[in-house]
Amino acid sequence: MALLPLIAEKDSEVLHAQTHIWNHIFNFINSGSLKCAVQLEIPDIIHKHGKPMTLTQLVNALPINKSKSAQLGRLMRTLTHSGFFVLTKIPGSEGSEGYALAPSSTLLLKDNPLSVRPFLLAMLDPILTQPWHNISDWFQNDDPTPFDTAHGMTFWDYAGKEPKLNHFFNDAMASDARLVMNVVIKYCRGVFEGLNSLVDVGGGTGTVATTIADSFPHLKCTVFDLPHVVQGLEGTKNLDYAGGDMFVSIPPADALLLKWILHDWSDQESVKILKKCKESIPSKEKGGKVIIIDMMVDNRIKDDESVETQIFFDMLMMILVTGRERAEKDWAKLFFEAGFSDYKIIPILGLRSLIEVYP
Ligand SMILES: C[S@@+](CC[C@H](N)C(=O)[O-])C[C@H]1O[C@@H](n2cnc3c(N)ncnc32)[C@H](O)[C@@H]1O
Repeated sequence: MALLPLIAEKDSEVLHAQTHIWNHIFNFINSGSLKCAVQLEIPDIIHKHGKPMTLTQLVNALPINKSKSAQLGRLMRTLTHSGFFVLTKIPGSEGSEGYALAPSSTLLLKDNPLSVRPFLLAMLDPILTQPWHNISDWFQNDDPTPFDTAHGMTFWDYAGKEPKLNHFFNDAMASDARLVMNVVIKYCRGVFEGLNSLVDVGGGTGTVATTIADSFPHLKCTVFDLPHVVQGLEGTKNLDYAGGDMFVSIPPADALLLKWILHDWSDQESVKILKKCKESIPSKEKGGKVIIIDMMVDNRIKDDESVETQIFFDMLMMILVTGRERAEKDWAKLFFEAGFSDYKIIPILGLRSLIEVYP
């Protein structure tokens, strides 16, 4: 048995500090490994198999070089440690173990309508990860964002010029829209009842508005976004598309929906957008309102993963665009500055909330 030498507290602290730093240096290994699993479609293959898969079965089923079996085992160990797979007994076998999906992996499946796969692949694309290497330069220059420092233009201009970014970003937004609308339509139908018209401002390729239009056939919905986003998209009986700039003017409607819009913009820019919104809706008495779906930073949230995820999103907004994540008091300040009189928060979307804002 090895004898444990006594280490002075000071030296033990140094070693702990080293571990803490190492752990943070290599945080990207979690996201890199997850990206690889999704690209190789490991969750899909295990799901189709219908029961836990041994490493050998997994190697045989994957389109990989068969000499890399041990290395796949190391990748699976990482992903099991980070909670995406579980190593479990294979039913009917004589005690052999295989990899099964952990609950969060079902959201990585290609065929799951609520899949976050497109969001994951977009956020980990080199176009979006490059700016994370430019943060310290950006702190010392005059660029609005590290994205500008990395690519020489704003995120939105780059998306207008580079079809690859435009497509994968729109796909990422559409995947999130499916997940969010699945909850909103189930639990917040009342928000849309009584409306005759609705404009989804910055509505992307129309996933949110399509869900609303299908659920409320009498409601006339318009998807309003930058021209390169809505170009060539065709509407339906109660849905149409309009290209334009929300800082200039927004088509009028009973209600305007802004999902994941204001967190992209600074307070000053957000007040401008909200003022434009107010010009396009009727009075509160006539049912006018703005419906916001966005993150609500809440100090009552205590679990580490949620707190860290909100902090990560706030950084993401600082790195890619000029926005930020907001607490209730920050939201209220924007609403009142833009001339709105009242608001109601419906906290049903995990880290995000639905907020009704009244003129
Ligand atoms: C974060 S995405 C959100 C998309 C969609 N609302 C969703 O949540 O799925 C922001 C959207 O705002 C659009 N956008 C950016 N600048 C805009 C502008 N000046 N006028 C109209 N839309 C704009 C983008 O093209 C993009 O579709």
